[in-house]
Amino acid sequence: MLIRDETAGDIPAIGRLVTEALRMLPQSTGTEAGIVEKLRADGALALSLVAEDEGEDEGEVIGYLAASAARIGTQDGWGLIGPLVVLPARHRQGIGTALMAEALRRLRATSRGAALVGDPAYYGRFGFRAFPGLGVAGCPPEVVQALPFDGTEPRGELIHHPAFGLAQPE
Ligand SMILES: CC(C)(COP(=O)(O)OP(=O)(O)OC[C@H]1O[C@@H](n2cnc3c(N)ncnc32)[C@H](O)[C@@H]1OP(=O)(O)O)[C@@H](O)C(=O)NCCC(=O)NCCS
Repeated sequence: MLIRDETAGDIPAIGRLVTEALRMLPQSTGTEAGIVEKLRADGALALSLVAEDEGEDEGEVIGYLAASAARIGTQDGWGLIGPLVVLPARHRQGIGTALMAEALRRLRATSRGAALVGDPAYYGRFGFRAFPGLGVAGCPPEVVQALPFDGTEPRGELIHHPAFGLAQPE
C-alpha cells in the first residue's frame, strides 16, 4: 500500500469511497463527501491523503484522510483530521493506521497539534484524548479529542472550517 497526496484523477474515487465507507455509520450525516468537495474548492485541504493499493487491484483508492486548519477557542494552528475512511472490505489491515501516521508526521511540521471528532476507542491508540473544556456543541465531550504536539492545553470549542456546516463562529 502506498500513502500519497491526492491527484486530480483521484477525486471521483475519493467521493465514492467517503460515501460508501460512512454509509453504515450511525452518526453519518451523508454529507461527508460534500464537505471534502467544499474544503477542496476553498483551498482548505491542508492534507488530502490517499491509500493506494499496490496489489492486484493496483491504483485503487482504498483509504482516504483529509485535514484542514482549525481553531480551539481563540487559538489557531490546529490541524483537524477528518474524514478518515477505509474501504469496508479492507478494514483492519492497518490502512487507517498508516494514513494517520503519515498525517501526524506532516502535521507536526505545520501545526501545534491535531484534533478530531471520533470514536475514542480507535483514536486513543494514536495518542488522542479528551480534555476538560474541549468540545463541539451538540457532541458528547468524549468524542472531541486532541493530540497537542508541544504541550499546549487545548481548551474551548474546536472550531471547524465552515465547509463542515456546523453552527460555529468562523
Ligand atoms: C475507522 C477506520 C478508518 C479504521 O481503519 P482500518 O484501516 O480498519 O484500521 P486499522 O486496520 O489501522 O486498525 C487499527 C486498529 O484499530 C482497531 N479498530 C478499527 N476500527 C475500530 C473501531 N471502530 N473501534 C475500535 N477499534 C477499531 C483495529 O482492530 C486495529 O486493532 P489491532 O491493530 O489491535 O488489530 C475504518 O474502520 C473505517 O473507515 N470505518 C468507517 C468510517 C469511520 O468510522 N471513520 C472514523 C469516524 S470516527
